[in-house]
Amino acid sequence: MKNRRLFLKTACKPLVLTAIGIPILEACSTEEVSETPLRSSVNSPVVEKREPLIINLSNSNFSDLTKVGGWKNYTQEDLLLVRISDNEIRAFDNRCPHQGNRDRWEFDGSSFTCQYHFNSYSTSCSGSLICYPTTFEDEVLTISFE
Ligand code: FES
Repeated sequence: MKNRRLFLKTACKPLVLTAIGIPILEACSTEEVSETPLRSSVNSPVVEKREPLIINLSNSNFSDLTKVGGWKNYTQEDLLLVRISDNEIRAFDNRCPHQGNRDRWEFDGSSFTCQYHFNSYSTSCSGSLICYPTTFEDEVLTISFE
């Protein structure tokens, strides 16, 4: 009984009235409403602006990309890279559109398959994977995050 009295004395009055069925349009907080937009929820993460990434493909860490059809899950930068032709390498966010996993991808020469639930995604920039603009010249790949 003592706890109940203490609760009623200290609880936010509009909250207590609402709990017993009396709606009141009043905030419990005395803080001013912020003009700053709210952060997105976990399901819709905030997209941070990134500087362009420049990769020299003569570095042995990228030897998988020397041949057409070669690919790499570049986990340090959260990217899936695939060599489409002699002159084109595409870059995708390696976050799986299904549940967001990044680390278990396979590539069959035409599509990526996430090994968690085996959903497949094309290497088209109009597909489900987020595709970033790239330029590729003299073995230097530049990825823009626009
Ligand atoms: S998390 Fe990739 S298919 Fe489910």
